[in-house]
This record gives sequence, structure tokens and C-alpha cells, in this order.
Amino acid sequence: MSAVVAPDLTEGVDENLMAPVRVAVLGAGTVGGSVVRLLHERSDLYAARVGRRLEVVGVAVRDTAKERDGIDPALLTTDAEALVDSADVVVEVMGGLDPARGLIERAMRRGAQVVTANKQLIAQEGVALHALADECGVGLDYEAAVMAAIPVMAVVREALAGDVITSISGVVNGSTNFILDMVARKGVPFEEAVRKAGELGYLEADPTEDLEGLDAAAKIVILARTAWGLPVTLDDVRRQGITGLTDEDFHNATGTGRVVKLVASAWRSGPAASPKVEVAVRPVALPQDDPLAMARGGANVVVIEAESAGTLRLHGAGAGGDETASAVLADVLRAVRRVGP
Ligand SMILES: NC(=O)c1ccc[n+]([C@@H]2O[C@H](COP(=O)([O-])OP(=O)(O)OC[C@H]3O[C@@H](n4cnc5c(N)ncnc54)[C@H](OP(=O)(O)O)[C@@H]3O)[C@@H](O)[C@H]2O)c1
Repeated sequence: MSAVVAPDLTEGVDENLMAPVRVAVLGAGTVGGSVVRLLHERSDLYAARVGRRLEVVGVAVRDTAKERDGIDPALLTTDAEALVDSADVVVEVMGGLDPARGLIERAMRRGAQVVTANKQLIAQEGVALHALADECGVGLDYEAAVMAAIPVMAVVREALAGDVITSISGVVNGSTNFILDMVARKGVPFEEAVRKAGELGYLEADPTEDLEGLDAAAKIVILARTAWGLPVTLDDVRRQGITGLTDEDFHNATGTGRVVKLVASAWRSGPAASPKVEVAVRPVALPQDDPLAMARGGANVVVIEAESAGTLRLHGAGAGGDETASAVLADVLRAVRRVGP
């Protein structure tokens, strides 16, 4: 029997013939730290995959004196604008609306490809940013903005491009799911579970983002826009968070064999010729065997219904440094392929 020889991925690729692609990373926190470290660790692998070297030309932060594992301190800068001006690909992982939006616009106007993980920015400004990206002839990718490691954007945008999506529903916020899971499975009183999630750092700096369903709303808006190509906004979301829930609500759900989850959903309504999209985020008491009821702890689950494909279910990590970086890095490699010689 002949031995199986692993394929040489670098065969036929001479990345030395092309100039390296200059990558700027804006932010070196939970996500940015993982992105920079993995770009370094997988440098040869990525060069083989895209036929070009990727060179991290700098990492923008607020505090350059802070100790950061796996990042060369010489790369750190507080001058994000100058860094953006020096890059072919700009990776925005600083979060917030400002200065992230201005930096992304600046990058596009200078012809750089943009990758971001910023769900609030894309939910609020995505339509305008896409228009600018088209005008500038650059790409704007944000797989990580929706459910981190779970490649749901790629499924909705690419894998189902020839199908007709009828609905998307999911448990898309790990923090609230952690809280609801503690109440349902461990019998912890609701208020205590919220306090525990805060102590463990599972809630955003502003906990209303999670508890009032704003984070989930941003994600379902981005998915709905991508699935149906309609300019869905955050104002279209009928939103109810989990802060209004009482121990009685949980007691009633348990009594009927159900489990309470914060569900984000979007579905097509109206006549086929002029379809509309309905979007909602609300707590729902689900039967135990519902796929969304099975999301445990901080996990995310999404169920997509399409006319021909039927029901698709994706399940995995909706947060975390390396997990989110996995999606960011896929977008970076897509962006690198668009960069000219
Ligand atoms: N964490 C996750 O699991 C996750 C999952 C999916 C998507 N995301 C998204 O990914 C983005 C980053 O999240 P994260 O958790 O990594 O945030 P983070 O840990 O708070 O890190 C933010 C980073 O950005 C830097 N930064 C913030 N404002 C800046 C400014 N004005 N100028 C220069 N640098 C600035 C910070 O610098 P300093 O370090 O000096 O303070 C820090 O390095 C957000 O949009 C978030 O919604 C996160």
C-alpha cells in the first residue's frame, strides 16, 4: 500500500513575488488581541492560502503602556488615523460608534478593504457604509459581528444565495442565555443570576445592551438585511428584553414543561411581489425539545428556514477572543484576495 503524502499547500505559490499585504488592526482587546496573535502564529499558513504575506503594520489602542500578551509593543500606536492611512486591509475591532465609523470611512476612501466585528455600528450605519464601500470599490465584511464563530452570515449571504429564506430565529445573545439557563436548570432566582453574570464579566459594560435585547436586535437586523436585501433598521424591531421577567414567569414555564429563552427572529410577510420583513426580540417559553431551547450557557443557536433547503441549524460559540477572531480572520483572507498587486 502506498503511503499517503500530505499535500504541500505552498506548492506553486511564491509569495515573495508580491508585496506583502499591509494589515492594520484597530483594537487589541479580547478580539483584537486574538486576531494579532493568530495572524503572527499562522503567518506561513495564511501566506500559503492566499499567495501573499500578511504584514501587521500596527495595532491602534488607547493605552500603549498596557501589557499585552503576544503583541510586539513596537506595533502599538494611539494614532489610528495614520495607521489606517498605511494599510491595505483595516480590521476594526475597537467597538463603539466613534471613532470606529470615521476610521472605517477614512480607510474606504483611501481604497483599503475593511473588516469589522462591530455589530452596533453595522446595525446602525451598515446601509450607508455599504454605499460608501461600493462608491470606493472596496469590500466591507463583518461575519464576526453576528454570532462570532458561527458562520451564519456566510450561510445567509452565500450558501443560500440561490434559495428563498422564509425565516431566521435564534438565541443570539450568550449573556442573557447564561442567565436564563441558570434560572431554568439550576433554580437560581432571576435577580441573583443577573448579578452573577455581571460578576463573571458576561455582561457588556452597559448591561442594558444585553438585558434589554439591544445586542440581539443588532444581530437580527444585520441578518434580516442580508437575507432579504431590505433596509431593515433597529427601529423596525419589536423588542422586549428579559428585565421584566419575574420568578412567576419562570415558574409557569417550568410547570408546563417549557423553558424561557430570549429569541431574536425575522420572517418574511406580505405578498411575494412586495415582501416585508418582520423583526422581533422577545422572551419566549419554548418546549424543551425546541432547537432553540437546547442552547446551554453562553452558546448561540440559529435556525434558518428556506424554501428549498428546508431547515438549517447552526450551533456554537457566539463570543470569545479566539472564537470571534476565527470569523474575523476568514474575512481578512477574503479581503486580502481583493487587494491588488
Ligand atoms: N468579545 C467578544 O466575544 C465579541 C464577539 C463578537 C463581536 N465582538 C465585537 O468586537 C469588537 C471588539 O470587542 P472586544 O470584546 O475585543 O472589546 P475590548 O476588549 O473592549 O477591546 C477594545 C479595544 O479597542 C481599543 N480601543 C477602544 N477605543 C479606542 C480608541 N478610541 N482608540 C484606539 N483604540 C481604542 C481598546 O484599547 P485599550 O486596550 O488601550 O483600552 C481595546 O484594545 C466590538 O465591536 C464587539 O462588539 C466582540
